[in-house]
Amino acid sequence: MVVLVGTMGAGKTTVGRMVADALGVGFLDTDHVVEERAGKPVSEIFVDDGEQAFRTMEHEAVASALAGHDGVLALGGGAVLDPATRELLRGHRVVFLRVGLSDAASRVGLGVSRPLLLGNVRGRIKQLLDERTPIYTSVATDTVETDGRAAQEVADEVRALVQDGRHGA
Ligand code: S3P
Repeated sequence: MVVLVGTMGAGKTTVGRMVADALGVGFLDTDHVVEERAGKPVSEIFVDDGEQAFRTMEHEAVASALAGHDGVLALGGGAVLDPATRELLRGHRVVFLRVGLSDAASRVGLGVSRPLLLGNVRGRIKQLLDERTPIYTSVATDTVETDGRAAQEVADEVRALVQDGRHGA
């Protein structure tokens, strides 16, 4: 099992699928788990139920995925804000996909499906990067740089880390 963390635009879903394909294992994304359980997209959960309700569902999705999924798991960008979720990650191989402001903003585009970015995509990403980078670093066993790199190149590096088996459980 390898867990991918990082902010929106880090490429967790794209890279995660590539790593899973290369290793011949399953891929799971906690946003999708939450969406399936709620029966609606993340953006609608934020509007209808609020961010706190989403965070509760997200924690449950991480907990069940860590317990039952043996493959590549991508966490939503804000999942690590919950101390209980950070605790669950202990002992797992956690790869932080690092991205800077420019690349994150261009990958996210207008960010219409990402409620936290509405209004000012670049300004919000900057704020989230400043607030969260120390948290991603604290939960990560490895950090992989994504700026200016193709998803495949990043995926190859993550796969090598997993196959190398030096870190994590
Ligand atoms: C969020 C990131 C999103 C999603 C939600 C909130 C965040 O996931 O969980 O919109 O707080 O950073 P991605 O990082 O997969 O876009």
